[in-house]
Amino acid sequence: YRNLRVALLGAGSVGSQVARLLLEQGDEFASRIGARLELVGIAVRDVDASRDVDLPRELFTTDASSLILGADIVVELMGGIEPARGYVLEALNSGADVITANKALLATHGPELFEAAEQVGAQLYYEAAVAGAIPIIRPLRDSLAGDRINRILGIVNGTTNFVLDRMDIHGETLQDALATATDRGYAEADPTADIGGYDAAQKAAILASLAFHTTVPLERVYREGITSVSKAQVDAAREAGAVIKLLAICERLTDRETGEEGVSARVYPALISRDHPLAAVHGAHNAVFVQSAAAGDLMFYGAGAGGVETASAVLGDVVSAARRHVVGGPGVAESTHADLPVLDIGRVVTRY
Ligand code: HSE
Repeated sequence: YRNLRVALLGAGSVGSQVARLLLEQGDEFASRIGARLELVGIAVRDVDASRDVDLPRELFTTDASSLILGADIVVELMGGIEPARGYVLEALNSGADVITANKALLATHGPELFEAAEQVGAQLYYEAAVAGAIPIIRPLRDSLAGDRINRILGIVNGTTNFVLDRMDIHGETLQDALATATDRGYAEADPTADIGGYDAAQKAAILASLAFHTTVPLERVYREGITSVSKAQVDAAREAGAVIKLLAICERLTDRETGEEGVSARVYPALISRDHPLAAVHGAHNAVFVQSAAAGDLMFYGAGAGGVETASAVLGDVVSAARRHVVGGPGVAESTHADLPVLDIGRVVTRY
């Protein structure tokens, strides 16, 4: 196999899991891709900081730019706007494909980054930027590219879903539920981003831009958080056969007066009927409900956060990028890895 050089920027909860899986599953990835993924280094602010995972010390560096220069694929998991933006541009300008989970960066500087990628024929992948482990970017960009999406209703912030769920099911106050969410590591370092709806608004900007083939800037996303949701409102919703969820709503609308067609993206605590599939999304889970003209209703459900879960989406992007580099290698939709035997075991008596 030839080698593809992968540079990782950031070793937080997602980054350290991406590094671990790249190191542990190297052989499996190699046969799946037709090339070997070589983790050439991990750029961090502090080489000696404690990490979730034990990784070889010699991989760490504080010199991100040098790492980027020699890489075929750059994985940006630092978060925040700067210096992440500068490094992503450096990587794209050097011709590397870039994988990022950085929703803030995409929601604010997406067009600039996509333009930079196009200039050099590189690709920018961001499956992990919205709803963690849930495949939603590719379905919107590829699988549904021949359809017309009319509306997306997304539960795209796990922290607020967890808090509202605890208020609804356990009768907890917002403060108590938030403390539990923080303890369990769902909330961002600064929970204002979650509770204030900013995290969901960034994701709404990304989803709406993709779904409607346009640019929806973050500042055009209407946003309300959950801070003013009271116990009484949660109870009243339940009595009315509904539940309050923080929804990212992206939809096509027609201006009633001018007849002009447009799109809108909004985030606010909204009522959902108890029998809607989104009402069954509990805890810190995420789900994206898509209504399209031909396919009808679709729902994508799963873990919206978490180190190893989100690493799954990042690594899917790494494999896609790597396959692009392999001339004659398996295509994106194909997998030729067939070493495992097929077992003929018929019916298995169990209950799923
Ligand atoms: N804090 C985010 C959430 C993490 O609660 O969903 C994933 O972006």
